[in-house]
Amino acid sequence: MEIKLHPPITNASGPHSVTYEELERIAQSAAGAIVTKSMTHCPRQGNPEPRLRAHLDGELGSLNSMGLPNLGYLEYAKFIPKLKEFGKPVIASIASAPCAHKLPPIEQYYEIATAIERAGADAIELNLSCPNLEDIPIAMDPQSVRAVLTAVTNAVKIPIGVKLAPYNNVPKLFDQIARTLLDFDIAYVATINSEPLTLDIDLKTRTKVIRPNDGFGGLGGPAVLPIALAEVHRFYKFFQKQKARIAVWGVGGIIRAEDAIKHFLAGASVVQIGTLFLWDGPQAFEKLWVGIQRWLQENGFSSVEEIVGQVREI
Ligand SMILES: Cc1cc2nc3c(=O)[nH]c(=O)nc-3n(C[C@H](O)[C@H](O)[C@H](O)COP(=O)(O)O)c2cc1C
Repeated sequence: MEIKLHPPITNASGPHSVTYEELERIAQSAAGAIVTKSMTHCPRQGNPEPRLRAHLDGELGSLNSMGLPNLGYLEYAKFIPKLKEFGKPVIASIASAPCAHKLPPIEQYYEIATAIERAGADAIELNLSCPNLEDIPIAMDPQSVRAVLTAVTNAVKIPIGVKLAPYNNVPKLFDQIARTLLDFDIAYVATINSEPLTLDIDLKTRTKVIRPNDGFGGLGGPAVLPIALAEVHRFYKFFQKQKARIAVWGVGGIIRAEDAIKHFLAGASVVQIGTLFLWDGPQAFEKLWVGIQRWLQENGFSSVEEIVGQVREI
């Protein structure tokens, strides 16, 4: 099932997407869809602060270990009908996390997905790759990925996207995950989530820049662009070869129109914007879209579709 967005740009789940007011600002922006913060079964406070360094030295990107602070799925279910009035797709990002009721992760995904479909969401993005929780992300285990996808794809009819971790240093796992996805009716993969287990140090204070998880967190922004491009391209080539109709949505490192163009050339048909949105707010979408259109025109193209996957070999 395909999801068509115009323009093919959305926010990436997380930055400025927790409260109704924040989601409404995305609705009013030039973004082609509204993606919610990853919602969990229980509301969550998230990790202790400081847990986000928005600007790393040298504008390399952002480092966070938020721990999925969110209002809980029942609140987002209430927001969805109001957000739909803005006339663009509402994509509900869903995650599992430890919770007082101790529901197993698969049941959490199932319960949230079915409730969110009933609330009227246009699509679901299964976040299987949060790097900042105690448990190893589901995206790192093909059997768990299969179990979640079996439960959710059998239960809901709206399009499903899957947010994945970078697999750059574990090629075998990339192959296992990509093959697992072929067995399901999914609309897109969104790649990448924050690059896990990264660290930065504040030289003024000689401290780690964030507190949780011994200072280790997920990296986003310019520093991850080549990692994201590689993941987008690998999935794009794999799905082409297998004749699978799964779109690739590129996430990671986009702060200029040229970065988005690289994602499209690598195989992304939609791009998602995390750190830049954190930095610049909703005007980021308009600016990027204007720049993308200018690049297309200057290079003799009339639409993004014409360049998707069109990177040349050297
Ligand atoms: C503060 C912050 C919170 C995030 N929260 C989520 C989240 O709830 N769910 C999710 O799938 N990704 C989350 N991410 C990851 C982003 O969606 C994105 O995958 C990552 O930042 C890479 O994109 P970027 O280089 O454009 O920032 C978060 C990122 C940041 C910076």
